[in-house]
Amino acid sequence: MATTTSTYLQDIGAKHVTKGLGRITGDAVMVRAQGSWAEFEDGRQLLDFTTGIGVTNLGHCHPKVSQAAANQCLSLVHGQCSIAFHEPYLRLIEKLLPIMPDPSLDSFFFWNSGSEAVEGALKMARIYTGRKGIITMQGGYHGRTFGAMAVTRSKTIYSEGSGPSMPSVFVAPFPFWHQLSLSPSAPEEEVVKKALYQLDLLLSQQINPKEVAAILIEPVLGEGGYVPAPPSYLRSLREICDKYGILLILDEVQTGFGRTGKYFASEYSGVSPDIMTIAKGLANGFPLSGIVSRTGITEKLKPGIMGGTYAGNAVACAAAIACTDVMKEEKVLENVQQRSKELITSLNKLRSRADIGPYILDVRGVGLMIGVEFASPSSVSTYDPNTIAGAPRNLASRVAKRCLEKGMLILTTSIYEVVRFIPPLNISAEDMALGIEIFTQAVEEIVKEG
Ligand SMILES: Cc1ncc(COP(=O)(O)O)c(C=O)c1O
Repeated sequence: MATTTSTYLQDIGAKHVTKGLGRITGDAVMVRAQGSWAEFEDGRQLLDFTTGIGVTNLGHCHPKVSQAAANQCLSLVHGQCSIAFHEPYLRLIEKLLPIMPDPSLDSFFFWNSGSEAVEGALKMARIYTGRKGIITMQGGYHGRTFGAMAVTRSKTIYSEGSGPSMPSVFVAPFPFWHQLSLSPSAPEEEVVKKALYQLDLLLSQQINPKEVAAILIEPVLGEGGYVPAPPSYLRSLREICDKYGILLILDEVQTGFGRTGKYFASEYSGVSPDIMTIAKGLANGFPLSGIVSRTGITEKLKPGIMGGTYAGNAVACAAAIACTDVMKEEKVLENVQQRSKELITSLNKLRSRADIGPYILDVRGVGLMIGVEFASPSSVSTYDPNTIAGAPRNLASRVAKRCLEKGMLILTTSIYEVVRFIPPLNISAEDMALGIEIFTQAVEEIVKEG
């Protein structure tokens, strides 16, 4: 075997990995990771506030999760779901049933990625209702495969040049002040009212509600800027769906499994979806996603409509079972609440400083899904009322880059200047404090540089 020096591997990467991928660490090679830390081949140990984009919620290589997967590898790796039931698949359902946000969510199909789960949810909604229309949200992100891409509206890059896209998709504004040309201090009721007004217009000018199969929404907008949907908005969506026989699909791919401080973000509103998509934290890094709905819906599906070679892989299911145990045994939700308070308090303190405050537009989010939006001197639109002349340019990406130089992985999100915090849900108080310290220093330096 060839020597695995950094340069040798980096050459392979430079020559043979698709240019269609972007990477925040450039050509760095990650070799191992444990808990909240990732180690690179050049010897760097980085504090990981990305969790592989909200996936390794229990930290990298959680011993119990990795052990469960290793054990499963020695008994059954691939018990294909159209060939037979397999035990981890069924045991996982047994574990998930009691934590579902509503007892009506009792019918499962496991797949590999979030995009696939979204595709399946759309397909089910169209089949069940016999309607074609799908309403998605401006700023929503649901994946990069064809159906998922068609309902993704966070950035044009995800569909650029690859259309025509799946038809019968309509877009309503997410209840986010930016999208409604409001200011960050706009009262929540105003934001909700304006978003619902636009949805009503859509339903009377673009598509008759009787032709709408589903409304699809992330309870916390992820790629669109880390914006929680106000509970009253979600409750209104539920009412509209009930009134017209539309299915409500909540995409909890990023928000699920404790990310927001509750098992599922929908618990904050009490709104029960007809279909819920899950992935990411479900198996802490093993590729596993799911579509959860009620038997009343899935009974309408003819056998063969759902399936997939690797769907519900036994090793991934075994890992997911261990995740549900760890969540309880280690009181992870309590840790999220505690660390979240520390993070939000520190970010608000930073925002209240005379030298930094004018450059922070918003601190928002819930649990450990927190976004900081910086000011910007320009915007995608000259009509954006929230641009701030004199603010330094590209604050979010510059701050994220400076954090990396200081030893922390952190991501930006959305078309706005937003840095997002998605640390492990079981992160220690010390690592959280260190992450806050690095971020604070990075902001101070970049603001000073102007
Ligand atoms: C809310 C949401 N839905 C769907 C997806 C797509 O998941 P995947 O990348 O596993 O296909 C993502 C990924 O970030 C997501 O955040």
